[in-house]
Amino acid sequence: MNGTTRPRLRSVAQLALAGLTLAATQGATARLDGWDLKAPAPVADGRPATLARANEVKCGECHREALESWAATTHALAWENEPYQEDLVGRKKAESCHGCHAPVALHGEEDELLATKPEARKDERHFGVSCESCHLASDGALLGPTGAPTQDHGTRKSESFSGAGSDALCATCHRTTVGPVIGLVRDFEQWETKPAGASCVACHMAPLREVGQGETKRTVRSHALQTPRDPHFLAQAFGVTLESAERSTRVVIANRAGHRVPGLIGRELEFVAVALGPDGKELARETLVLTTEAYLPVGDSLSLELPVKAAKVALRARHVDPRLDKPVLFLERELAP
Ligand code: HEC
Ligand code: HEC
Ligand code: HEC
Ligand code: HEC
Ligand code: HEC
Repeated sequence: MNGTTRPRLRSVAQLALAGLTLAATQGATARLDGWDLKAPAPVADGRPATLARANEVKCGECHREALESWAATTHALAWENEPYQEDLVGRKKAESCHGCHAPVALHGEEDELLATKPEARKDERHFGVSCESCHLASDGALLGPTGAPTQDHGTRKSESFSGAGSDALCATCHRTTVGPVIGLVRDFEQWETKPAGASCVACHMAPLREVGQGETKRTVRSHALQTPRDPHFLAQAFGVTLESAERSTRVVIANRAGHRVPGLIGRELEFVAVALGPDGKELARETLVLTTEAYLPVGDSLSLELPVKAAKVALRARHVDPRLDKPVLFLERELAP
């Protein structure tokens, strides 16, 4: 699909079988401690909910679930996305941008060798960060977490699809600070209190179920990326505690994400803490706004200082994405000392 060898593709009928195996083995999943990931809430932000030409992606004949979840992400939309196309207008070297927004296969001659500078595809750029970008090997085989054998195409196991190896895959594009891009991978690497098992994939691709046996036992994860547009996910980015003193109350907000927040340019996070007296009356209020410039670093915390002793504190927080019709309210809690 991108000028490199294509995998040999077979008819759709065979996949009915693979579908059955998947359904039959629902069970335990590999979860990161303290994180509860559900398939993300649907995108409802006025952008195309899914890539218009997703059905042209051949892999989807057999990997329907992967296709449908990927097609609704900004990976699929990385080329068509309005912010991207708008940003290209008037740029002299726009070509240098395309390598991460519509890349060729990222794996090189050897399966574990990833591009240091992804190159742009010549054709089918509308597929953005495509299935092949991440999975295609130089000989046309498809690389995955276990390399489960099939007659439909060659498969091989690659470190790029588990643990720290998958961080390297994500890092090919998420490390640099080019254009408006925030190099989140650098934050992740500097995270001193990283919990065991933390990876980009562990937080951003929800585990769905276990499949396979023995060597090919693996966790199927959703290709739908967890994003701050889903309040359930975003709320987990923050650990909130209340500290009470003689004449003041402090709300401490700790960053639990694997990098700074907000993690994308132009987004804002707004926290409002209201100190309440025993009768529920407002005594004081404080607001904290996190932006691209004034962000909360990885592993760090910030506090809202209320100059009164409160009986309770009402905390509300929302995420503002300028492209959404309205902010996403993700925290609404009453805290008691
Ligand atoms: C090394 C890979 C890479 C290159 C090269 C690159 N980008 Fe990106 N781009 C990304 C990643 C990764 C993101 C996701 C956001 C982030 O991590 O900050 C992104 C996000 C964006 C966004 C934000 C979209 C949104 O939803 O707000 C825009 C706009 C953008 N890029 C424009 C550009 C332009 C213009 C160039 C060329 C100057 C460029 N990019 C080059 C990787 C890249
Ligand atoms: C940004 C890179 C990326 C893109 C794009 C991508 N994948 Fe994946 N894929 C992964 C990662 C990472 C895993 C392994 C997740 C894990 O740890 O279990 C994976 C796992 C898989 C698996 C094995 C697990 C399973 O579901 O049985 C299949 C099959 C797969 N992807 C197919 C696809 C298809 C089809 C597309 C396009 C519609 C696609 N992928 C797009 C990164 C990607
Ligand atoms: C004709 C059906 C068919 C098509 C088309 C197809 N696949 Fe597969 N693929 C399979 C089957 C069947 C398996 C074995 C899965 C299993 O045992 O659960 C598989 C396995 C995989 C694996 C290995 C997962 C692991 O165990 O590591 C990856 C990755 C993958 N496919 C990606 C793709 C991508 C990307 C495309 C499109 C370029 C594609 N496939 C097209 C049927 C297909
Ligand atoms: C080929 C380059 C590339 C690779 C590899 C890549 N990304 Fe991205 N990613 C992007 C670009 C480009 C964007 C922004 C697209 C846009 O907004 O138009 C993005 C956006 C995202 C977003 C924001 C999604 C949203 O809708 O807000 C997340 C989360 C993300 N990537 C996670 C990952 C993870 C996890 C991996 C590894 C499995 C990964 N990425 C691998 C290029 C890449
Ligand atoms: C411990 C969990 C965790 C880990 C590990 C993690 N993230 Fe995140 N990520 C989050 C949370 C929670 C958010 C939402 C907070 C925000 O950005 O405002 C987020 C936001 C993002 C965003 C911004 C999306 C948007 O629309 O604003 C991108 C891009 C992203 N992560 C990429 C990555 C990459 C790449 C890695 C690996 C280096 C990674 N993340 C590791 C939890 C995690």
